[in-house]
Amino acid sequence: MFEWDFSPPRSAPMGDHDVRRASDHLAGRRVALLVCGGIAAMKAPMVARALRGRGAEVTAFCSDEALRYVGREALEWSTCNPLVTQLTWRAEHLSDSAPFDAYLVAPATYNTLGKAAAGIADGVVTATLASAFGRMRAGHAVVLFAPTMHGSMHHPVLEQSCRALAALGAQFVTPRDDYGKHNLPDEGVLVAAVCRALSKSPLRGRSVLVATADAFNPHRDSADRLGAELHEALVLRGADSTLLLGPTSVRPAAWLPSVSAGDAASWSSAARARIGTPPALDAAVVSGSAPELVEALGDLRALFVVPEARPTSLVAAIVDHLEARLSAASDPP
Ligand SMILES: Cc1cc2nc3c(=O)[nH]c(=O)nc-3n(C[C@H](O)[C@H](O)[C@H](O)COP(=O)(O)O)c2cc1C
Repeated sequence: MFEWDFSPPRSAPMGDHDVRRASDHLAGRRVALLVCGGIAAMKAPMVARALRGRGAEVTAFCSDEALRYVGREALEWSTCNPLVTQLTWRAEHLSDSAPFDAYLVAPATYNTLGKAAAGIADGVVTATLASAFGRMRAGHAVVLFAPTMHGSMHHPVLEQSCRALAALGAQFVTPRDDYGKHNLPDEGVLVAAVCRALSKSPLRGRSVLVATADAFNPHRDSADRLGAELHEALVLRGADSTLLLGPTSVRPAAWLPSVSAGDAASWSSAARARIGTPPALDAAVVSGSAPELVEALGDLRALFVVPEARPTSLVAAIVDHLEARLSAASDPP
């Protein structure tokens, strides 16, 4: 497992710059990735590729400080576009000829948040933001900030900057809280935030419960897989979706929030609590045999997914076989 036999990689029909297309949620959308001088700037190329994985055309803009933590080549390679580090006669910050649909500031520093909130436009990122706010106010673009900084930099001045920007209409991606810092969230979270902000789906802002895999359902993994795929699709369209899983081996993507219940009773009561009395949801998708939930769902449009039967897991069958053989081999003669 940990030793390479020097065999070459399997060939794939992908070019050097290509990314695997996860979905088309951002197809035809132009995204400006504004990178500030936080250490997390080193992750910006991966963010750019994750945006492209949803179909976006990405152009990166870097502050002078950001260039200390991420390289020009990495950003140009990952976006397939020239990096903007200086404003020239082309007026890159306005991007009039090919306007941006979304501006994602990731990482957003304390400094840039403060400057943007105070109306300062003295660099590539801050000047681009000044124009972005105008487009946002006109309903032509969305602006998202992903703040990262050491905990000591979180105080009323930071909060004041964030509140002023939010009041203007900018959106914030909640930082990942770890080791006393506001860290850059997983790329999946950042890209989902952009997809949700740009979504025109009627599901946007609607509250949906996806409850799969009650312990009574013999096909629960199949239902959970289906539920996880459905939940992802709903989240990317801007729905306030909750995925409630039962005891299952299915692991939704790490960036997708889900709730797991350990047994049938807690699955059922978690589903009821989410549904509310009277029902406070816009829709529910419930799989498996949960007749008691039908009543609780009341007038909600509930779709009962009945997954098709799957054969017993091949992996489980092989493991069972190996265990049986090994325990037979170790039996005393
Ligand atoms: C190693 C290192 C890491 C830093 N990380 C952050 C950070 O995560 N967040 C932040 O607000 N400032 C951070 N700073 C401070 C910024 O780099 C500094 O405030 C800079 O002026 C920001 O410039 P910009 O907002 O124009 O990119 C860091 C500084 C250093 C030396």
